[in-house]
Amino acid sequence: MKQTRREFLEFLGYSSIVLGTVSIPANVRASLFSAKNNFNPLKRGISTDELVLASGFEYSMLAQWGDPINQGETFGYNNDYIAFLPDNANNPVSGTLWVNHEYAHPLFVSGYDKKSPKTKEQVIKEQESVGGSVVRVQKTSTGSWELVKDDARNFRVSGRTKIPLSQPILQSKEAVGTLANCAGGVTSWGTILTCEENYQDCYGDRKFGKSIINAAEYDYQWGSFFNYPPEHYGWVVEIDVHKKTSKKLISLGRFAHESATCITAKDGRCVVYSGDDKNDEFIYKFISKTPGSLEEGTLYVADTVNGKWLPLDLEKSPALKLKFKNQTDVMIFAREAGKTLGATPQDRPEDMDINPHTGEILVALTNNASNLNFFGSILKIKEKNNDYLSMEFEVSTFMPGGEKTGFACPDNLAFDPAGNFWFTSDMSGSKMNKFPYTKYGNNGLFVVSQQGKHAGKAVQIASAPMDAELTGPSFTPDGKTLFLSVQHPGEQTESLDNLTSNWPNGGKNIPRPAVVAITGPALEMLTKKLT
Ligand code: FEO
Ligand code: CA
Ligand code: CA
Repeated sequence: MKQTRREFLEFLGYSSIVLGTVSIPANVRASLFSAKNNFNPLKRGISTDELVLASGFEYSMLAQWGDPINQGETFGYNNDYIAFLPDNANNPVSGTLWVNHEYAHPLFVSGYDKKSPKTKEQVIKEQESVGGSVVRVQKTSTGSWELVKDDARNFRVSGRTKIPLSQPILQSKEAVGTLANCAGGVTSWGTILTCEENYQDCYGDRKFGKSIINAAEYDYQWGSFFNYPPEHYGWVVEIDVHKKTSKKLISLGRFAHESATCITAKDGRCVVYSGDDKNDEFIYKFISKTPGSLEEGTLYVADTVNGKWLPLDLEKSPALKLKFKNQTDVMIFAREAGKTLGATPQDRPEDMDINPHTGEILVALTNNASNLNFFGSILKIKEKNNDYLSMEFEVSTFMPGGEKTGFACPDNLAFDPAGNFWFTSDMSGSKMNKFPYTKYGNNGLFVVSQQGKHAGKAVQIASAPMDAELTGPSFTPDGKTLFLSVQHPGEQTESLDNLTSNWPNGGKNIPRPAVVAITGPALEMLTKKLT
């Protein structure tokens, strides 16, 4: 009775509940919400150092940066994309979790405080903190989730792992490390795609047609100690979590890959959509040559003015022959090749997802300050005849960011099993809670639901701790759990004496990126499949 009252109180406002404090049977809690067939979203503009959830949602802590996953390896920093591979899709109470680790915060990870030059040992710590983690997870008897430490399937991929290249690059068949692992995808054959986004921050970059790189000018200065070519980064990396193997896929091109969203075409081949998250860069799609492999195929770039996919292929687009030595060169400098063919510049394409009911592709265009686009939008691509192999498509704005819709800077996207559309926001830490983002509070998680009084509107379900971004939303197939990354809490911290966040451990603790498992009656009500 006491807890039921508490549940009703929470229903009236927002709350932050760590699972374990509420023990009403799940069926009672679900009916409490389904009777109303609704839920109360958060008020806008929350800015507090907590993961705040709307009533009816609760979370348990799954893994934090530094947690041991086995004897000798630890969970990496800045968790982003999450893929859940259930052991049994019909009863998804355990499975394998892939988690991206995008980049290091040097002060927290290596102790680099900018007062003295970064050392090789500090660079190695930072390299070890990025890449990805594979961990076994399972639901506990209380309904929360836990990481199974020392499970035989747990392993790390990092900025120091040797990774084969699917085609030689600069006479090399292997790269050292994967890094800047932002979003990703899952293939129909169960491998993970992890995307190397802001690769230039680690070893610099080489301009098209120029031989010089200046690695030291880039943020992380890894190139000062490790002479690795920039051309080895900026790829999509395929990970087989069962065989514990990885490979960089050259045919998908090299740029700041945000995501790699996979769908199977009508003839069984794999189509992968990917955006280049940089001001005025492009949207791409890749069509594999054969089903079940991404090693060969054709990469296309989007002309959204004319609704056409343009092949980045020397034979199909002869204009490329005037500029590029060979097809590998086209892939290494995909941006330059796209520009040559007249691809349409976009306002920073971030994550993409495909509506399971309509087949439409949604693309987060997060913002582009250089175009005075501060709030971004979500773009909709409709392939001709809903055919993913089509060379023609239509585009329209699905939803703009801004005052009317109440969100700014969309980033990660996900559809739940009922077809509700979820997305997260990514206002940069240096601009959050400042003009023109003052009204939006901290970054959040939003849903556009299919039914109920909020249907069709973006309403807020979660608000992130200070400086953080919510990333990698990933549902279990039954919709009862949403895995979510809390990335870069306290990122604006410049001194350990003045922390901007203490999440999640509170007190005077340094902040730690972490993955949580969100459950609760409101989630179950929302994600229940309509029959
Ligand atoms: Fe890593 Fe474009 O976000
Ligand atoms: Ca992102
Ligand atoms: Ca982002």
